[in-house]
Amino acid sequence: MNTSVIDQDGEDTIARMRRLQSERRARSSAVMAGVLSAYITTPRDKILEAELDGLIDSFLLAQQAVDDGLPRQVGRLREGRALTLTGQSGAGKTRTLERHFLKREEFNGYGDRNADCILVSVSTPSPCTLRLLGMEVLAALGYETSRRLEENVVWDMVQSQLALRQVRFLHIDELQHVLQTRNPVEIGKVQDTLKRLMQNRTWPVWLILSGLPEIGRFFADDEQVWRRSRHVTFDDLILEEDASLVCRLITSYAQDKAHLSTDTVMGDSFIARLLHAALGRFGILIEIIQDAIREALLRESEALTVEHFAAAYMARSGCLPEENLFTAESHWWLIKPREGLVHKYAGDGVKEDSEHCGRNEGKQPKPRDRRNP
Ligand SMILES: Nc1ncnc2c1ncn2[C@@H]1O[C@H](COP(=O)(O)OP(=O)(O)O)[C@@H](O)[C@H]1O
Ligand SMILES: [Mg+2]
Repeated sequence: MNTSVIDQDGEDTIARMRRLQSERRARSSAVMAGVLSAYITTPRDKILEAELDGLIDSFLLAQQAVDDGLPRQVGRLREGRALTLTGQSGAGKTRTLERHFLKREEFNGYGDRNADCILVSVSTPSPCTLRLLGMEVLAALGYETSRRLEENVVWDMVQSQLALRQVRFLHIDELQHVLQTRNPVEIGKVQDTLKRLMQNRTWPVWLILSGLPEIGRFFADDEQVWRRSRHVTFDDLILEEDASLVCRLITSYAQDKAHLSTDTVMGDSFIARLLHAALGRFGILIEIIQDAIREALLRESEALTVEHFAAAYMARSGCLPEENLFTAESHWWLIKPREGLVHKYAGDGVKEDSEHCGRNEGKQPKPRDRRNP
């Protein structure tokens, strides 16, 4: 039976409902696009900005010495320096660096192979050898070849291409892949090669190295380079220090970008669960908030609530409903956010995680908020 009624514009009821539905969806995907692209500035940006200023200043100082024709007198001044940015996976290193590289005028043209940018960025291949890392840098410099180049040839070419393309700053992301080879010879070769790039007499290069915390010590055994390195760390967030930052993130994304009210997701007990779900990582926290907002928009809700976070968390972790750390009544701090999927399939013969929520109740102390002992 056809129940639709044709209105004066020739649109029947069902067609109108479909049109309204797609308008609604278009609105919410526009909102979501704004939520996903928004960059949130925190005090960490100021620290990184100051360190990048310092790195650029040291380059300009060296350049000045060369321009003044005093290369012999200035000695070490002419050598490049290194800046490391370390933090756990999901802390926000890659996105933050990219943001600063794109924003700074000194790095105009960053990311455009046809522009003459003085900064080039690469991601360390995995698994990594000195040769493969060199090939990656060559490709980023716009030098493509299908020939298999030997390790020493690759790095000679890297050095000459850096000079040819006037590249002064080299960013290497995920440098921990070098350490993960667990091959001391290969690690030593990468260390020596990077040091040589910095100390090259005709074209020294300034390095920005990012990755997991262990790369903060990449040059620790080399006194010369160590003294010429600076370090920025992106620490995990903790409730007693970062609760107000978490509130600001929720407000910026949910209220400002998605026009959702947030009254029920601002309390300390909720924020403690949210931080635990995100393993304290700034970037993961942002992603969970974004996912929860998507849930709220899909359900056409006017407020962002715990249920939206629970749904987002369930989709991310694959946890059982009773093990959702946003809704678990007790012992939520024993739930391990990364192990939901392992536990879910435990009954199907997959090894069960003996430390998972429920079985070791009471073994770990509940995290305490030191502000309210
Ligand atoms: N300041 C920020 N504002 C908005 N989103 C961010 C910010 N920092 C990180 N993110 C997001 O967090 C997630 C993880 O960041 P990423 O840079 O990949 O972390 P890492 O490189 O430390 O593993 C990404 O989705 C990224 O877009
Ligand atoms: Mg990264």
